[in-house]
Amino acid sequence: MTTPKIEIQLSTHPASPKRRAELMTNPGFGRVFTDHMVVVPYTEGKGWGPGVLKAYGPIELDPAASVLHYGQAIFEGFKAFKQQDGSIACFRPDANARRFNTSARRLAMPDLPEDLFLAAAKALITQEQAWVPGAVGESLYMRPLMIATEAALGVKPSSEYLFLLLASPSGAYFPAGVKPVTVWISEDYVRAAPGGTGFAKCAGNYAASLVAQHQAKGQGCDQVVWLDAIHREYIEEMGGMNLFFVYQEQGETVVVTPELTGSLLPGITRDSLLQLAREQGFRAEERRISVSEWRSAIAEGRMTEAFACGTAAVITPVGEVKSVRGGWTIHGGQTGPVAAKLRQVLLDIQHGSAPDTHGWMQKIV
Ligand code: PLP
Ligand code: COI
Repeated sequence: MTTPKIEIQLSTHPASPKRRAELMTNPGFGRVFTDHMVVVPYTEGKGWGPGVLKAYGPIELDPAASVLHYGQAIFEGFKAFKQQDGSIACFRPDANARRFNTSARRLAMPDLPEDLFLAAAKALITQEQAWVPGAVGESLYMRPLMIATEAALGVKPSSEYLFLLLASPSGAYFPAGVKPVTVWISEDYVRAAPGGTGFAKCAGNYAASLVAQHQAKGQGCDQVVWLDAIHREYIEEMGGMNLFFVYQEQGETVVVTPELTGSLLPGITRDSLLQLAREQGFRAEERRISVSEWRSAIAEGRMTEAFACGTAAVITPVGEVKSVRGGWTIHGGQTGPVAAKLRQVLLDIQHGSAPDTHGWMQKIV
């Protein structure tokens, strides 16, 4: 197979090195974008292409474009890291390319060939090397997305789509950095139900979450914890992250994450941490865990930590839990040793300061 070609049309107004340096100082998350983006159109019957790398900027969309009405929109998130030797590598972009297509199929959108996804990433990161931050915990966050662009108001899958890839130099996802977060258990709203779109990374899941996120903020919390739609008892995940719980059982450290039910996102960080936890000598389990188990395991001292994980937030400890039925504190509201260890192990692999024994890092330049 030949590598898909991305035509290069360089921006006539890139940021000056001084401006870029300013923008890259404390970039936060997802607020700064590089000089270029990749755009690839799709037309039914013709397929994908041609792909173009061009100046970052607004796109033209017909007001009748079906994404604006019926929400056929999916996205991904992965990171490019500066390596110890000065090269740049992405963490598991192939897994994101696969999940992108899982999401596409659920929303009746066309598959994007994985080699096109990866060629777009290579072209953009190669072009934007100067935008890749070097500090540990910083990266170039890559945001692929696909939207339905056919101008038609009939409710049906669009016959035209646009794939876009943006790049954003990013630091910590939460403004406070790696400080433990306070979470709100949502009992009024559910994020996803069996047979729905919970396992897909589609825009609508996030739109539907915002009112609960707003409610959480009103309770002094940073994030929402979602429960299963049927029993409203089993923990699924957090706003944009999966959850892990740490138990101490007869001298053994056990990390537990909710099993994949179809209504939570199969996180790539989650999958990676299950492997890394086992390599650290911990037992790692995927199973159902209820809110009452969470509460009682903390009260009995069996559970010592909880943390969230995802591409954007890496590992973020949960320090406090609140709900209409009261709340509890975890590990004194501080980062625990298991979360800290796994975060370090993951970041060391991502920045190339520990060997990549899993073949997770894909060198770009
Ligand atoms: N859950 C949701 C709802 C997310 O948006 C994300 C972020 O991508 C995750 C979990 C974590 O997934 P990953 O580790 O692949 O970034
Ligand atoms: C990510 O971790 O990449 C996410 O997509 C989470 C959030 C920003 C939606």
